[in-house]
Parts: sequence; structure tokens; C-alpha cells
Amino acid sequence: MTLYETIFVRRSVRKYDKTPLDDETLRGIQKILDEAERIDGQTGRFEIVVGSRVKNATAPHYIFAFSEANDGAYANVGYVLQKVDLYLQSIGVGSVWLGAGKPVESAPDYVIMLAFGKTEVPLRSGAQDFRRLVLGEISDGDNAVAQAARLAPSAANSQPWKLHFEDGKVTVRYFGRGLLKAMLKKMNKVDIGIVLRHIEIALLKEGKTVRSVTATAAAGGGDLTAEITYVD
Ligand SMILES: Cc1cc2nc3c(=O)[nH]c(=O)nc-3n(C[C@H](O)[C@H](O)[C@H](O)COP(=O)(O)O)c2cc1C
Repeated sequence: MTLYETIFVRRSVRKYDKTPLDDETLRGIQKILDEAERIDGQTGRFEIVVGSRVKNATAPHYIFAFSEANDGAYANVGYVLQKVDLYLQSIGVGSVWLGAGKPVESAPDYVIMLAFGKTEVPLRSGAQDFRRLVLGEISDGDNAVAQAARLAPSAANSQPWKLHFEDGKVTVRYFGRGLLKAMLKKMNKVDIGIVLRHIEIALLKEGKTVRSVTATAAAGGGDLTAEITYVD
């Protein structure tokens, strides 16, 4: 299954078989992680670890993400690991983002973890199985790219984004929603990167060439805004 196809059937998996994945599968995951594009100017650090490195672990494997403490860096974490999330589910491995997960050993630059492993939990059967806002609430364009973006996972399913379409450019503006808005501050910046990855994959599927992927806070400490520019 392609990453694009996986967007329409993935789900958060919270029940795992504790048997570790084989070495070859783990090497494949490491390769995707190493090669995943970063947001322009961002790096981040990512480490595949075993379950014993996580308090109350339910999965055999996790990826820890570490970054600088700014909104663009948090978005980069989302952008990088959402490629891995889709890759995992495309090869039949379950995964879930865990903002509430706790590493056994704390680190000042730790941001979030992604749990993964074998599972019996099936993929979704299609877009109709997702609980998401209607497209008009998150986007000013109704097109295949917006439809793929709409299905992106987000912390507490908060979907904190608004998409704006122009020729050669998609802009994602942070748009906090609901009562959890204040609590999810950092996680919602990760969410912006996650939706950016869905947008990028959908643009590539349409044969576009992506030119730049940026995420910056508006001047004067305003909300995070991300942009993908592309050509035909
Ligand atoms: C940044 C982020 C943090 C999340 N943290 C948690 C978490 O701590 N615990 C949990 O069970 N799910 C967590 N989730 C999973 C979301 O609840 C889930 O993606 C959302 O409800 C949509 O469901 P779906 O992924 O099955 O489409 C998180 C998701 C994201 C993107």
C-alpha cells in the first residue's frame, strides 16, 4: 500500500502483541526515519527504543522525538514522524502518537513518542470510518489535497488547523479548537507538522513537485503558520 492510500485507512492502535518486530523490519523503519524529509531549517533527533524505556509500556517499540523548544521545531517532529506512522501502517504494523507517554528517563529536549508493534487491530475500511470535522470547517478549498489533510491524526482529535489554497501554495494556520486548546499547546504544534505531511503526500500523488516546506510563528509571537509551495 502506498503512503497516500494509507492516509485513508490508518488508525491509532492501542493494543499490541508484545513480541518484538524482526530485525529486517526494524531496519526498514530506521531507514524511513533517517530519510524522512525535515521542514526547511529544522533537524530534530529521533531514537527507536524498546518498550522497557517507557513507563507502563503497552507496545514493544517506541520512537522518542527530541527537539529545540520552539513551534517550528515541534511541527518538524510531526512532519517527520507522520511519515513513519503512515509507513508503519502501510506494512501492517500498528502505531499511535502518545503525547501523554512517559519515558523512564526524562530529557529536557524530549517532545513526544510514537508507539508501534504487531497488532490484530485492523485498518479502517475507508474515509467514512473517520471521526473528523466537515471539510468546510478546516479548509477553503474542497479538493483531493484537503480531503487527505482532513484525515490527519491530532492530539485528542482536536484538528487545530485551517487550510488556505492558492496557486502553487498551501498554507496551514494553527487554529485552536475546543476546551483542550490551552492544554494541548505544544502537541498542537506537532499536529501542524502532521497535517503538512498529509498535504505533501497528496500533492506528490497529484504529480506536483514540492519546492519548500516551512513552519514559522507569525511576527510578534503570533500563531504558527506553515506553508508548502509546489510546481506542476
Ligand atoms: C500529537 C498527538 C498526541 C497524541 N497523544 C495521545 C495520547 O497521549 N494517548 C492516546 O491514546 N492517543 C493519543 N493520540 C492519538 C489521537 O487521540 C488520535 O490520533 C485521534 O483521536 C484521531 O484518531 P485516529 O488516529 O485513530 O484517526 C495523539 C495524537 C497526536 C497526533
